[in-house]
Amino acid sequence: MTILKAHQADITTLAVDAIVNAANSSLLGGGGVDGAIHHAAGPELLCECRVLGGCKTGNAKLTRGYKLPSKFIIHTVGPTWNGGSHGEAGLLASCYRRSLELAVACDLASIAFPAISTGIFGFPIQPAAAIAISTVSAFTQSPTSLREVFFCCYSTSDYELYTELLFNRRNHQRVERPGASADF
Ligand code: AR6
Repeated sequence: MTILKAHQADITTLAVDAIVNAANSSLLGGGGVDGAIHHAAGPELLCECRVLGGCKTGNAKLTRGYKLPSKFIIHTVGPTWNGGSHGEAGLLASCYRRSLELAVACDLASIAFPAISTGIFGFPIQPAAAIAISTVSAFTQSPTSLREVFFCCYSTSDYELYTELLFNRRNHQRVERPGASADF
């Protein structure tokens, strides 16, 4: 079983198997969580990123974690919000799915996601959080190596939103599957 949890923290401090980076298609660094991850991991991360040949929106690539407490970094490229009718939701879901697929391919047990696309890329947090939770939830219905998936929230308001959505999902599952575990 995989436990889904909301957690408020700077993602660069988390000692999980992999943290996910909300990168851009160059994979050569930027602002927001991307800048924080490159800063904390150190310059060797950029050397590895340089040979990856970039990454398409909705896809993901894995590097080592270098100076971070996490063993690996999964770099994914979220969509830029452009009103919502340009495939943004599907591309955001793909970021979560591709990151999880990479984590499982490497037999990882724990992964932490930031709220991909909801900063500089402008995706509204409400639909973004709902897509994040439903995509991870669907993926983890089948048994995998993953034991814990963290939704790492930077702000208190994001943390409260994720907590509420996870709580509602748990109650929904209880009704759908009476006797199911109360774990998020
Ligand atoms: N730990 C956890 N979450 C964080 C941290 C942190 N240290 N820093 C920011 N966040 P953003 P995007 C949250 O802008 O919207 C970069 O320049 C932040 O509050 O980092 O996908 C890339 O190179 C927000 O909730 O990523 C791309 O060009 C979330 O992380 C572009 O920004 C995502 O915000 C990607 O934009």
